[in-house]
Amino acid sequence: MAKSKSAFVCQSCGNVTPRWQGRCESCGAWNSIIEDGGVAGIGAQAARGAKKGRIFTLGELAHADAPQRRLETGIGELDRVTGGGFVPGSVLLLGGEPGIGKSTLLIQACAALARRGERVVYISGEEAMDQVRLRATRLGLASAPVELAAETGVEDIVATLSHGARPALVVIDSIQTMWTDAVESSPGTVTQVRGSAQALIRFAKTTGAVVILVGHVTKDGQIAGPRVVEHMVDAVVSFEGEGGRDFRILRAVKNRFGPTDEIGVFEMTGGGLNEVANPSALFLTAHDEVTPGVAVFAGMEGTRPLLVEIQALVAPTSLGTPRRAVVGWDTSRLAMVVAVLEAHAGLKLGQHDIYLTIAGGLRVSEPAADLAAAAALVSSLSGQSLPPHAVYFGEVGLSGAVRPVAHAAARLKEAAKLGFMSAVAPRGAQAAAESGGDPMKLSACEHIGALVAEIAKPRPSSAPKQQQRVEERRTR
Ligand code: TYD
Ligand code: MG
Repeated sequence: MAKSKSAFVCQSCGNVTPRWQGRCESCGAWNSIIEDGGVAGIGAQAARGAKKGRIFTLGELAHADAPQRRLETGIGELDRVTGGGFVPGSVLLLGGEPGIGKSTLLIQACAALARRGERVVYISGEEAMDQVRLRATRLGLASAPVELAAETGVEDIVATLSHGARPALVVIDSIQTMWTDAVESSPGTVTQVRGSAQALIRFAKTTGAVVILVGHVTKDGQIAGPRVVEHMVDAVVSFEGEGGRDFRILRAVKNRFGPTDEIGVFEMTGGGLNEVANPSALFLTAHDEVTPGVAVFAGMEGTRPLLVEIQALVAPTSLGTPRRAVVGWDTSRLAMVVAVLEAHAGLKLGQHDIYLTIAGGLRVSEPAADLAAAAALVSSLSGQSLPPHAVYFGEVGLSGAVRPVAHAAARLKEAAKLGFMSAVAPRGAQAAAESGGDPMKLSACEHIGALVAEIAKPRPSSAPKQQQRVEERRTR
């Protein structure tokens, strides 16, 4: 092995420099660089003697063996995010802030798999065995045949796991607590995290076991670790939640074996995480009277339609430069919608503060939300509430034209299911509405100017009958 030479490693991004610096050149973090021995140890692996390998064509490999069965947990929301179950031999990184529920989700997944006869090993580097057992008892999973170990040395873990039947799933909770003999730096550093992840990935690839690494990420991304292993693993899934709320969203950030736009929705209860079968109901705040500035957006998350509420507040400013604050949406997208409203619909928003929020802490990235955001803004500015039973979707172009978006039929169907009775949508949605079974009144909106005229139009303040029908169907 080459003589190991110490290097300086940024604890935030993993960048290596030959000398100490106050600021990392790569990620710009201050005071994040520490001296880290043993970097040469990793590099030395690559310098070993080279040997000749064999190259295959795709065709040759096609007959090699039948595609491996995915490992489904039976927890629908989790399987949806992984793209239909874990792929044998793959490594998944589950990231999230401490306390969000990563350990809870994984012990539930482990128990579900173990009960179906798979060998499942849960290795805790953070909690003692008793704590893990206590949690499982609280979740009503104490009788599940999950194998537990409290261990932090990667070499010991791999040696232990190599005994007996090949495990179907191994959970490492968490990767930050692991350390390997192969590198000399102290546990918890980027080099250790990377070295440990490498060893565990090698274990997964050689045995075909699924390995899940848990990684803590703090809000400011301060802790060493998960970021630097993201590119080494097959899938990165993040577990998110809004402070003070009980629901959690599981989101695929990267997936070599499936789509990345699916989300899974859970609710944290006293008895663990429950799947939320109908997330639309969760993100719509139940309100008896409609207020100006609230529009319901018929959105899509992956292949699933999801209705969310967009709230806007437009108020005269007392500042020289008006304030623009956005939660859950893109600030530049708001700037664009505001500019289009000013240029093509004659609105004057230069002297107004604008606040826009996606209710429920969800993050929306679809361009289809433009029309709903515009409706919420116009409604708040004009003081006219939108019809209580209407949903909005459509992409707004710089010319003010409203462009069609994908999955119109699915959006309309979901809206009808939840008791909405009309939709303001691009013109192409007409055909989709007709093909669907539920009656949906569709007003085609081709230009943003038409939307503004429609909202500002004086109309009877409320339609009590329709309102009642909406409430009835929503509570069903
Ligand atoms: P945990 O899974 O330990 O989070 P992580 O592994 O991401 O750090 O979850 C911790 C939180 O979840 C804790 O604040 C309590 C809460 N919780 C419940 O509300 N109900 C439960 O049944 C369990 C097990 C935890
Ligand atoms: Mg934990």
